[in-house]
Amino acid sequence: MAQMRMRNAKGGNSSEIEKKIKRKCPETELHLAWLQTAPGLLLVTLLACGTSLWLYLSTADADITETLVGRGELVSPQPRVFAVPCSEDYDQHKRFPGCTPQKCGRAVTDGLVSREEAQALRRLAERGLALAGSEGGASILDLHSGALSMGKQFVNIYRYFGDQIGEVFTQEDFRLYRDVRRRIQDTIAQTFGLDVSLLFLTKPTFFSRINSTEAKTQHDEYWHPHIDKVTYGSFDYTSLLYLTDYGTDFTGGRFIFMDKDGNRTVEPRAGRLSFFSSGSENLHRVERVAWGTRFAITVSFTCDPAHAIADPSLAAV
Ligand SMILES: *[C@@H]1O[C@H](CO)[C@@H](O)[C@H](O)[C@H]1NC(C)=O
Ligand SMILES: *[C@@H]1O[C@H](CO)[C@@H](O)[C@H](O)[C@H]1NC(C)=O
Repeated sequence: MAQMRMRNAKGGNSSEIEKKIKRKCPETELHLAWLQTAPGLLLVTLLACGTSLWLYLSTADADITETLVGRGELVSPQPRVFAVPCSEDYDQHKRFPGCTPQKCGRAVTDGLVSREEAQALRRLAERGLALAGSEGGASILDLHSGALSMGKQFVNIYRYFGDQIGEVFTQEDFRLYRDVRRRIQDTIAQTFGLDVSLLFLTKPTFFSRINSTEAKTQHDEYWHPHIDKVTYGSFDYTSLLYLTDYGTDFTGGRFIFMDKDGNRTVEPRAGRLSFFSSGSENLHRVERVAWGTRFAITVSFTCDPAHAIADPSLAAV
């Protein structure tokens, strides 16, 4: 991190940074002569600009070349689709006609989940994660398996908390979760031209909560570049539903597709769904969260019925 920041500050990006700083601190140029007679004010200005330089550098850990969808945009109702050629990863697995990616790419939509629904899901996550949480900055809650981060490991919420879990989650929570999951599945099938009945929810599908606290175990290190199809052979389509806003709820934490010719980012926004084929055509990473708390749900799909999982329900507890 520190090394990267130094490179940013000294390297090719420095004029870009200077421009940003100048935009934020125009008075430095305009009133320089006047300020020399007011050393107090000069100090204040320097401190303010120093702080914005520090804030800017501390959130600029990714070499981003392009923003695919910014936080302030509203992509609705149709997803914005970016096609990329499929990798050969899918050849190393059994193919399922009508489902295995033939067209690959990534897409983003803000038209599928309302901000109210995103907020309800965020509260669900907050309540569940309040039961425990990782000592490092990254915690997960998987309603399907029951896995919840606790200290340096995981517990099963259904076993650990037993009947009390009915006081934490309501039937309505689970209905919303299932409904959103179905909508995501329909949208993926439509966008990639798949038969929706041949696509199955798979694991891990989970809520994540990330803040800037230092990682304590490998589980907390969410920022490494990875390929979902390589990490989990069963994945064919990955989706991420964001529950908080980049820039206001947290800084850093942008999603980055790492292409050979550049790093392309999607800025999280509550209710925004980002989805993509899971092979190495979509190598990606998440920028480190610099400030605040980032909530999201990872919802994963497979074409292999042997890896299908069921929706969670309170009745099954
Ligand atoms: C991150 O979250 C954990 C758990 O809620 C909390 O203990 C910690 O203080 C938070 N860190 C920061 C930097 O806010
Ligand atoms: C993408 O970002 C990584 C670090 O995040 C950097 O090493 C790499 O050079 C960047 N790629 C391009 C093509 O700019």
